[in-house]
Amino acid sequence: MFRESLFALFLLSAFSSSLLPLTTAQDYVLDTDGHAVENHGTYYLLPAKSGSGGGGIEVAATGKESCALTVVQSLNEDSMGLPLKLSSPSITTSHFTEYTSLSIEFTSAPAPCSSASEWTVVKGLPEGRAVKLNDYGNTVEGDFAFVCAKREFYRCNKSYQLIFCPYGLMRCEDVGISIDDDGNRRLVISDGNPFLFKLQKVGSSSST
Ligand SMILES: *[C@@H]1O[C@H](CO)[C@@H](O)[C@H](O)[C@H]1NC(C)=O
Repeated sequence: MFRESLFALFLLSAFSSSLLPLTTAQDYVLDTDGHAVENHGTYYLLPAKSGSGGGGIEVAATGKESCALTVVQSLNEDSMGLPLKLSSPSITTSHFTEYTSLSIEFTSAPAPCSSASEWTVVKGLPEGRAVKLNDYGNTVEGDFAFVCAKREFYRCNKSYQLIFCPYGLMRCEDVGISIDDDGNRRLVISDGNPFLFKLQKVGSSSST
């Protein structure tokens, strides 16, 4: 409990400059239908703007990997990617706000490659720190969270960015897309260049 409150506090101080006004920090994260995203619910994470060069989120084998362990954006703009379960173990409410620490996992492990389905950040890679499945090793301990991309008349415009907050660091970092030599659109720690997306509930047909 203590760690969570501390986490919230330092997030508030770290991000207060981007919160206009500060009081809206408690807004629930919204899906494309305008409903509050459910804690433990299943969603597609789709680019905020279509035509920006990729689709939903999935896994791929990149670099020297013989097996799909890297979280990537689909190269197919029409692909929804794989469903993701969004859970906050630290809250008991059925919905969550921006800055709530989250665990993100594919609803099924992409067998036969990996037994893991949860996202983690791995350090010491040629590409820097990148989002991988959590049986990768050399992981950075921390939490993911969502932050509104832009407020219009004090309301979030339903586009979000992902941040990663390593434990013990007084700041969080943006998760962005980096295109490697093979054309993979990998999710990496990319300060100042966040990937903007919207959250579409699995089973919903709305995409706006
Ligand atoms: C919300 O704002 C961001 C940043 O300007 C933009 O990229 C995104 O397309 C907007 N989303 C919607 C649904 O208008």
